[in-house]
Amino acid sequence: MIVALDHIAIAVPDLEKAIKRFMEDFGLTYEGTEDVPAAKTSTAFFPLPATSIELVHPLNGEGPIAGYLEKKGGGMHHLCFRSDDIEADVARLKEKGYQFLSEAPTIGAHNCKVIFIHPKSCDGVLIELNQPQDDHH
Ligand code: CO
Repeated sequence: MIVALDHIAIAVPDLEKAIKRFMEDFGLTYEGTEDVPAAKTSTAFFPLPATSIELVHPLNGEGPIAGYLEKKGGGMHHLCFRSDDIEADVARLKEKGYQFLSEAPTIGAHNCKVIFIHPKSCDGVLIELNQPQDDHH
């Protein structure tokens, strides 16, 4: 089952500049960088307390969200939900018709098992599921 929002990923053209922004401009604690060669990606993490997801939809068909939906700007790349049993969640979601970008979880940042749900299955949002493997050291 889903147990937490693990992280939100933002694609950045200049990693060092973005790290400085989040550290110095936003004052977040910088945990460090980690290259994930299998994903051809460099990552940088800033741990934060627990959070919430807000879904927003135009009220009575008007307002700022209606305008946003018409234009669809934006740059959020994916949401990641932490799982306590990723294989079970993948099986459960596949049974409900969700498509995934790979057949089975692979190893991602933080040595987590990770898998991505196809954006087509989630209103165009790329969603990752992960499961830490800390208890398997
Ligand atoms: Co991620």
